[in-house]
Amino acid sequence: MSLKEQIDSSRLPSHIAIIMDGNGRWAQEKGEDRLFGHLHGVESVRDVVEGAAELGIKNLTLYAFSTENWDRPEDEVSGLMELLIDTIKKEVPTLNKNNIKLHVIGAVDMLPSGALAELNEAMAQTASNTGLNLIMALSYSSRWEIINAVKQIAGDAKAGKIDPNTIDHQAFHSYLSTDRFPDPELMIRTSGEYRISNFLLYQLAYTELYFTSTLWPDFRKEDLYDAILDFQKRERRFGKTGEQLKK
Ligand code: IPE
Ligand code: IPE
Ligand code: MG
Repeated sequence: MSLKEQIDSSRLPSHIAIIMDGNGRWAQEKGEDRLFGHLHGVESVRDVVEGAAELGIKNLTLYAFSTENWDRPEDEVSGLMELLIDTIKKEVPTLNKNNIKLHVIGAVDMLPSGALAELNEAMAQTASNTGLNLIMALSYSSRWEIINAVKQIAGDAKAGKIDPNTIDHQAFHSYLSTDRFPDPELMIRTSGEYRISNFLLYQLAYTELYFTSTLWPDFRKEDLYDAILDFQKRERRFGKTGEQLKK
């Protein structure tokens, strides 16, 4: 049986989030420039998005650029931005063909205006698709998101729109940029790093974490299937005992 056939389609994670890491090292191992790695990373994005859509995954978040990544060398940042605009432009027909709706989370006002315009255009062109939600985390950091939410809540409280005593998980969640989506059930990080790097800190509270040493440009559908199969073996307890879950 192929890996794909082993997946129980009735127990798919409703939301998969991926920290796509290792492009730079992949390129350096080959004696190439870091940008060469980012270029090949796009191939992995294509394959994994297609794989997720074929399986019927509803939500896929890809961490493509963090707030902290703005501090990388200027040529890497500008190269990445160019690649981003180019890829998004090129991929819109494929997204539409596969009924994929594009979303973006992050401090997008930090993006060059051309990139932002392309993004908005791509989101508008895929807005009526009803299949996979592809959520690109761009210029994203979780602390940025949480602080932003706190600012808005404080503003709304000051304006008398909300009563601070009524703020609960659901109310707080509604101020996050991921409000429209369920919290990730599976988080994958490639490249053998065991950290979260400012990604979805609040939303990952009960997410199953999967780490692989595969570098992002080598990651393909089959690796996604591996991660999902691993997820399906786990017992998610949410604070309860194993015995309680069997009842
Ligand atoms: C991930 O690969 C892509 C981005 C962060 C934009 P890296 O560029 O971080 O690659 P490594 O971790 O240096 O190998
Ligand atoms: C995390 O990778 C961000 C993205 C994959 C976009 P980094 O390579 O920036 O993370 P650190 O610096 O190793 O923690
Ligand atoms: Mg990295």
